Amino acid sequence: MGSDLILSIESSCDETSAAVVDDRLNVLSCVTASQIELHNQFGGVYPEMASRQHVTNILPVIDQAMQEAAVQPGDLTMIGVTRGPGLMSSLSVGVNTACALGRGWGVPVMGVNHLRGHVASAELNGFEIEFPSLLLLVSGGHTLLAMMDDGAEFRLLGETRDDSVGEAYDKVARELGLGYPGGPVVDRLAKSGVSAGRLPKVMPLAADGYDFSLSGLKEATRRLIRSQPDLSVEDVCAEFVDACLGLLVRRTTQAVERERPRSVVVVGGVAASPPLRAMMKELCDEAGIPLLLPDLKWATDNAAMIGGAAWRYVERDVPRSLSVDPRLRFDQF
Ligand code: KG4
Ligand code: ZN
Repeated sequence: MGSDLILSIESSCDETSAAVVDDRLNVLSCVTASQIELHNQFGGVYPEMASRQHVTNILPVIDQAMQEAAVQPGDLTMIGVTRGPGLMSSLSVGVNTACALGRGWGVPVMGVNHLRGHVASAELNGFEIEFPSLLLLVSGGHTLLAMMDDGAEFRLLGETRDDSVGEAYDKVARELGLGYPGGPVVDRLAKSGVSAGRLPKVMPLAADGYDFSLSGLKEATRRLIRSQPDLSVEDVCAEFVDACLGLLVRRTTQAVERERPRSVVVVGGVAASPPLRAMMKELCDEAGIPLLLPDLKWATDNAAMIGGAAWRYVERDVPRSLSVDPRLRFDQF
């Protein structure tokens, strides 16, 4: 166990989460209040409702995380909080709360990039990334491939020009009336369906590049549903998962061959997908390099990963910033 402790806070989208993490990235506690039920009623996240929920939940969640870890404010070395990217009004609740507590308790506060939080989700509880490493980040807000040469600098290889993979899952789920978020239910139904390659393969936008577009796949899925009403929901899900994850596997394989990373890291909400985890394992086994995946409970948004990223900032002497930035890029801090 490490001896320094951080209280970390995440409120960038629809989860209000607080955690206590030590400087060796052991998670002492993590409490998350999900708004899924609320947003499920409306098929997506409405910023105004989300931020009001954060205001209601944030102090009880922090209180419970501190209690479960049995720590007092005086035991904390630092408070870490997500400062972007995400919804402006939701991020502000987290950052304002962190600043108020920091001032009251006399503890420094550090802003953290949510996307670097996702990267740290694979390092919680004692895992270390071997660099240079290939990063596949697949969440509701982002889909990108990057090389991490040393853990601080990221080199973008390619990304989606429109929808993220998480969004594509959510939109297909909405089209099929399956509720929000779509990932888990679409994956589950796909397991009992059959894919016969009825959807077109997603192609790269440039012959030698990694960028791609997913809005076409979403449209093609919609057309498939309408043109073949007899197709079971399970089969539609199987077709979609096959086409979508097939694309990720092709791009990742290409990047492993060209960039020769020493490891592969797959993070973000979609990293909770059992078929994606299995496909990435097979790919890495074939390439003979280790695969780092977050524990299932750290794949979707949570504060533990934000605490982990904050400790990496401390190790690397990253200057502290608390400005809220809804459009913070993945290579910023
Ligand atoms: O990382 P995350 O919790 O939030 C963002 O930062 O965006 O990702 C949420 C996304 C949602 O789109 C959800 O449908 C997807 O992750 N997701 C999954 C699974 N669990 C969550 N997608 C595929 N399979 C899953 N099991
Ligand atoms: Zn996220």
